Amino acid sequence: MDLNGISALLGARPAGHSLPRGLYSDPAAFEFDMEAVFGRSWLFAGFEAEVRNPGDYLSIMIGHWPVLVVRGRDGALRAFHNSCRHRGSILCKPGNGNAARLTCPYHRWTYGLDGRLLAAGRMPDDFDKGDHALVSLHLETVAGVIFICLAETPPDFSVLRLDLAPLLAPHRFDRAKVAHKSVLVEYANWKLVMENGRECYHCATGHPELARTFPVTADEYFDLDGSEARAFAARMTDLGLPTGPVGEDWWQAVRFGLNPGNVAMTVSGDFAVSKLMCDLGGGDIGSLRWAIEPNNFCHSTSEYTFAFNAMPVAPGETHVVSTWLVDEDAVEGVDYDVATLTQLWTLTNLQDKEFAENNQIGVNSPGYRPGPYSPSAESLTLRFVDWYCAKAADYIERAAA
Ligand code: FES
Ligand SMILES: [Fe+2]
Repeated sequence: MDLNGISALLGARPAGHSLPRGLYSDPAAFEFDMEAVFGRSWLFAGFEAEVRNPGDYLSIMIGHWPVLVVRGRDGALRAFHNSCRHRGSILCKPGNGNAARLTCPYHRWTYGLDGRLLAAGRMPDDFDKGDHALVSLHLETVAGVIFICLAETPPDFSVLRLDLAPLLAPHRFDRAKVAHKSVLVEYANWKLVMENGRECYHCATGHPELARTFPVTADEYFDLDGSEARAFAARMTDLGLPTGPVGEDWWQAVRFGLNPGNVAMTVSGDFAVSKLMCDLGGGDIGSLRWAIEPNNFCHSTSEYTFAFNAMPVAPGETHVVSTWLVDEDAVEGVDYDVATLTQLWTLTNLQDKEFAENNQIGVNSPGYRPGPYSPSAESLTLRFVDWYCAKAADYIERAAA
């Protein structure tokens, strides 16, 4: 399928409906998504807490593109394509690590943490190391959150920086540590994983544990005009905590109140961590939901931040990377235990895996027809799909120009 084929599928989608099957299953559509969406968006890459010290690195896969985020000796964070300038081997396997220098495992070309090539054995006298630095990517940080963009000219970042930072700042990511990280393999297209993650139509019955604390039946996800929501917003204002909502078409953030009687987003509704990241109001500050298209959402409560990232791997395979942050002084086994901390989102992720995989199997059926989203219960899913279609159409338009 070429761009005309993708364009025809986008054009065949009735407004307010899910996508035609090809966009969820065709290998060409997956390659298109990588170029048109993941290659041209700001992507959530992780937290500064994961790469705090010089030499700390984060090696991640964006589809089949290996990327490195590295903390330099000068304290600066940089992002590079994880591809050696000799013959292209990756320098670091996916995961977190620390290195004084980045040495390619193949023929030992060695790079500084700033990407400069420092050593390349047995190359001729006229070989210029200065021409063979690692290829860099755009990187931005906001309140301890790392964003990268693979595009030559990235989308404007200034509104996110200005509007999201005040909402994130009270959660003190500058003094956070990673308590747990997990990867869940889901056999579904990344867009089905995200569509599921953007709605709570399925939550009341599909996530009994989440439904205890999370307002799963609120219209438009968070009913910000209800009397309880207004009382919550007034209480947050008194504490000096901004609630939003803020956002643009590709990101959004809002602080919302948990269901009455609950102070934490846990299975019990009680705190799982005794040292809070934000102790204003005794920690009873609801949850800040922030979400970045194409593939991320996060919940920041007073005691932890949970980050969800759907990493596309193949047309029918997505790896959900989950990260839990807690205060750096919280001691495992004393102030929290990982099982209790992670129980709610681990259960929720497993339930969602089944929903997304069921969805993929059914979408593959010849009987599948794009269906209508509920304007109230699936508004954020509709927003995601509309954003995807606009991003895709923009790419096709530019390619044709
Ligand atoms: S590919 Fe890296 S040193 Fe040869
Ligand atoms: Fe869900």
